[in-house]
Amino acid sequence: MKPPLPLEDTAEDMLRSCHAKMRQFSAILVRTIDAWHADESHPQVPAAAASLGRYFREALPMHARDEDESISPRLVVAHPELAPMLAELEQGHVALKTLLPPVLAALDELAANGAPEDPELHEHVTALVEHLEAHAAMEERGWFRLFGELPEAERRAVRLEMAARRAR
Ligand SMILES: [Fe+2]
Ligand SMILES: [Fe+2]
Repeated sequence: MKPPLPLEDTAEDMLRSCHAKMRQFSAILVRTIDAWHADESHPQVPAAAASLGRYFREALPMHARDEDESISPRLVVAHPELAPMLAELEQGHVALKTLLPPVLAALDELAANGAPEDPELHEHVTALVEHLEAHAAMEERGWFRLFGELPEAERRAVRLEMAARRAR
């Protein structure tokens, strides 16, 4: 008998892996900027900066859309008491529009072997990383368990929307 195929990952698996990836890329961001400060011609910085730029430009906003467009609207129907927290979390996604641009500008410079001139780069990186960690922790404490308790059909619909977003 052939071994069974691995079971498909669920919406909860995908969410947890999005948060793990966010923490991983946050740590790589801090390490990359530190490495560049220590050695402006560090050979690994340009490739790391290019990969960080892709993550923060493409993958992270997609995760925010998963939550704003697929998850929150379903959660709030089942748990209207979550509305204020979900609105605050949505504002947390909007805040990325301010927090990300200076970091992305520096990453683009570094990816092109340039030297970012932003004197506040360290502060911008710290503000972004702290925001992401606090935001993710609030989600994990605030609604991850409740999301896992939504009816199977709802979670399945979220899973399909997340996959469709990534297939575009
Ligand atoms: Fe979020
Ligand atoms: Fe999240």
